[in-house]
Amino acid sequence: GAFTDYQAETATIAQGVVESNHAGFTGSGFVNYANVTGSYVEFSVSAAAAGTETLTFRYANGTTADRPMTITVNGTAVATARSFPSTGAWATWQEVALDAPLTAGANTVRATATTEGGGPNLDRLRVTGAGDTEKPTS
Ligand code: GCU
Repeated sequence: GAFTDYQAETATIAQGVVESNHAGFTGSGFVNYANVTGSYVEFSVSAAAAGTETLTFRYANGTTADRPMTITVNGTAVATARSFPSTGAWATWQEVALDAPLTAGANTVRATATTEGGGPNLDRLRVTGAGDTEKPTS
């Protein structure tokens, strides 16, 4: 289906910084989460219609430890401590996907670190569903 990409570097960032020192990201960079529980990136997602869509997070985790994050949509958890396992290197990017209900119009999608390691490096959120009509931005 059609999809819309939302870059992490233009999202709302709480305890994290935009960086571009590891290759392979899309857009102009990625978010390096602070290594603390509770650091988050929040995306403002517009849906043309209410319904279940697929949220695909593109990330890198160059450590050997998991960097789990809880995913909320409009403040409600749709995944608790979802695993973002090692990708083997900071320049190696993989995807974690889940389905979640969106409301018509504006939605917030937040990915919050649940361990003291913080989140992984986050490149983007791709939202895939029947209502997505925009072309990818990268
Ligand atoms: C390294 C790496 C960062 C990463 C950080 C981390 O410093 O260069 O991109 O965010 O580790 O462990 O979170």
